[in-house]
Amino acid sequence: MTATLLQGGPVAEAILAETAARVAGLKTRGIEPALALVRVGEDPASIVYVRKKREACAAAGIRSIDLEFPADIGRGRLLETIYRLNADQAVHGILVQFPLPKDLDQDEVVNTISPAKDVDGFHPLNAGRLALGLPGFVPCTPLGVVLLLRHAGVNLDGKFVVVIGRSNIVGRPLANLLSLKRLGLNATVLLAHASTVDLPRFTREADVVIAAVGRPRTVTGEMLKPGAVVIDVGINRIDDPTRKSGSRLVGDVDFDSASKVAGMITPVPGGVGPLTVACLCRNAAAAAAGEWSRLS
Ligand code: GUN
Repeated sequence: MTATLLQGGPVAEAILAETAARVAGLKTRGIEPALALVRVGEDPASIVYVRKKREACAAAGIRSIDLEFPADIGRGRLLETIYRLNADQAVHGILVQFPLPKDLDQDEVVNTISPAKDVDGFHPLNAGRLALGLPGFVPCTPLGVVLLLRHAGVNLDGKFVVVIGRSNIVGRPLANLLSLKRLGLNATVLLAHASTVDLPRFTREADVVIAAVGRPRTVTGEMLKPGAVVIDVGINRIDDPTRKSGSRLVGDVDFDSASKVAGMITPVPGGVGPLTVACLCRNAAAAAAGEWSRLS
C-alpha cells in the first residue's frame, strides 16, 4: 500500500468535541438540545445505526429521545408522532431512520418533518436550498466527507471530482455541495452512477473519486489516476468463508488494488462511517441554536 489512510475516527472526535462545546454553551442559555430518534421495525442495521447515534448524542451532551415502533405502526400513527414532535418546542431535531417498512412512504415521512428540525437534511426544502447554494441543513454523510477532505488538507478548488452514485442521501447532495463556489469546495463535479457508460474513462481523469453506489469493488486501482484521493462511502456485506461469521464488510472500492495507486484512501469500516454520526450531532446542535429559523 502506498496511499495515506484517511481515518474518520479522529475527525469525528474533533467534530463531537466542537459540538459538545457548543451544546454546553447552549445549556448555559437555558437551551437543552434534544434530538428525537425514530425507529420503525427491527431492521438489524437500523438498530445498530440508531444505537450509534444515541451514543454520539450522549457524548456531545445532546438529549436523545428514543421512539421505537413496531413495523405495523401504520401511516397515521407515524405521521401523528411526527406532527407531535414538530410542535414540541423542547425537541430541536427529528431523525426517522431509513429504510422504513415497505408499506410506509419514505417521501411522505420526510415531507412531514418540519424543515427547521430536519437534521438529516432530507426535506425537499433543505435539499432545494443546498442545490441553490443557500444555507440549510446539509445531509450528514456528504457533510462528513467534506469535513474529512478539509481535515486532510485537500483543496478541491477547480479539481475534477467524480461522485459515483446518485442517491438523495449521499451522491446527489454531495455533488451539489462540492460544486458550491465556497472556500475549499468549488470543484468540477461529475455525478456518475451504475448506468454510466465507460466509468473508468472518467475516474482515470479524476483528482478525487467518491464511491457511493452500493456495489462492492466498483472502483479498482486500474480505474484511478496515480495519487488520486479516494473516498469510499459504501458499506456492503459480502460472503467470506475464512471468517467465523461467514461474512465481512467491504466498501464500494477494491481497497487492495486502489490503495496501491491512490494518494489518499478511506478504509471500510473506519473511514466515512464515524463522520455521519458526528455530523448528525453537529446539525442537531445547530437546530437547537435556532440556525434554521434565522435563514429566511
Ligand atoms: N439510513 C441510512 N443512512 C441514513 C441517514 O443518514 N439518515 C437516516 N434517517 N436514515 C438512514
